[in-house]
Formats: sequence, structure tokens, C-alpha cells
Amino acid sequence: MSDLNVMRHVTKDITNEAVTDYLVSFYRPPTPELGDLRENCEKEPVPIILRETKDFLSTFMEILKPKRVLEIGTAVGYSSMFFAEKIRQYNDIEGYSVYTIEKDDDAFIRAGNEIKKLGYDKAVRQFLGDGEECIEDIIKDDGSVRFDMIFIDAAKSHYKRFLEASLKVLSDDGVIICDDTLFQGRPALEGEIPPRKHRTNTLALREFNEFVMTDTRFSSTHTAIGNGLTIIKPKKR
Ligand SMILES: C[S@@+](CC[C@H](N)C(=O)[O-])C[C@H]1O[C@@H](n2cnc3c(N)ncnc32)[C@H](O)[C@@H]1O
Repeated sequence: MSDLNVMRHVTKDITNEAVTDYLVSFYRPPTPELGDLRENCEKEPVPIILRETKDFLSTFMEILKPKRVLEIGTAVGYSSMFFAEKIRQYNDIEGYSVYTIEKDDDAFIRAGNEIKKLGYDKAVRQFLGDGEECIEDIIKDDGSVRFDMIFIDAAKSHYKRFLEASLKVLSDDGVIICDDTLFQGRPALEGEIPPRKHRTNTLALREFNEFVMTDTRFSSTHTAIGNGLTIIKPKKR
């Protein structure tokens, strides 16, 4: 593939602009406050789930009806609060419905402020540290805790590690969803050496994407929603 073709294929828009714009035209904020938070994040910019990703997850949660969600990668808490809001609509059980893990101190503090400001502090429980290490801490604290949906949206080169850790706390009918697995379309450019800046992430995602489709423990699918969403369902033994 020539350089020109590579340029043409590498895009934030992993399908095409018209289709993405069309899908995004259906977006509605989960609440006015979360809509404002999204707009601020998009302006700043802070990386949060894309509009069409939020729309997909909204319907997905309506179907799956997870009672408890674990997230790796809090950033400012947008998706954590969106998950909590969604769960609140079909499940009025008290206590934390969302556990979210963030390794960056500043993001952790900022998310704490946002979560409190928007009134989700009784629903969202934050953890500071690496995704895998925090899962081990969660298990040490309560070995019986299980999550019906686990959302992986953190360091792309660590997805395999996060996935293996997540399996330890996934409920029997639980599902794992990974965001950004088509990372600007780059993993699809097989045979091309990715630019240095994106090399580690692209190669790691290519390996991860292959792994989840070939490991016989899983039934998985890659979807071209947003920046690529991969849905992983462990098979029953
Ligand atoms: C794309 S952002 C998350 C966006 C958030 N899920 C949302 O949609 O609102 C990724 C976050 O993962 C965090 N992160 C990176 N490596 C991590 C790790 N090893 N463990 C936990 N969090 C990590 C980053 O600091 C960053 O805030």
C-alpha cells in the first residue's frame, strides 16, 4: 500500500464521515448535566467514549441489564456516571453499581469532584491505581464480588492483561467490552509498519484483536462502532 493510501485509511473516522455523522445525528445526552460534561470534555479535549459508542452501550445495557459494572479507565468519570445513570433506570437497589479504576492521580481527583457534583457518589466507587492491580485489591477485599459488564477503556497496550484480570471477577453471564480496539483504523492496516508514535498501541491491539477471536474460551466480535468496540463473552464450560 502506498503512503497516500495509508494516509487515506488512517482516520479518526473508522467507517466514513457521512455514516459517522449520520449515526451521531441520533445522539441524545443521557442527562442534561452529562451532556454538558461531554461538551466540556470534547472542547478540552479529554478522551471519553464517543457519542455513537454511548448510544450503542445504552441499548446494550437495556438488553443485558447489568446490575454492577466494572470500568478500567475513569478519566473524568463521564462513562462511569453514564453507566450508573443507566443502571438506576432499571434497578433501584442501593449501593455502588459502578466500580471504576483510574491510575492517574489528577484524573482520579477530578473524576471524584465531577461524580460528587453530579450526585453519583453513592453509585460510583472509585479506585486509584493500575487496572489489574486494583482488581486484585477488589478480590482481596471481597472475594465474592462479581460484575455483569466490564468495560475496558485504558492503556491500549495492556488490554490482554486487563482482560485476564477481568475474567476473575466477571459474573457467569457477564460480558466484557473493550473500547478503541480499531484505534483510528490502524490495526486494520496489516503489513504496514505503524508510525513510531502509534507503533506500540497498534501492534498490541492487532495482537489483542487476534487473540480474542482465536482463544477458544471466548465468543467475541469486533464492531466498527466509534473507535472500535470489541464484545467478549466467555463460553460456558
Ligand atoms: C480513554 S480514557 C477513559 C475514558 C472514560 N472511560 C470515559 O469514557 O469517560 C482512559 C483512561 O485510562 C487511564 N489509564 C491508563 N492506563 C491505565 C491503567 N493501567 N490502569 C487504570 N487506568 C489507566 C488514563 O489515565 C485515562 O484517564
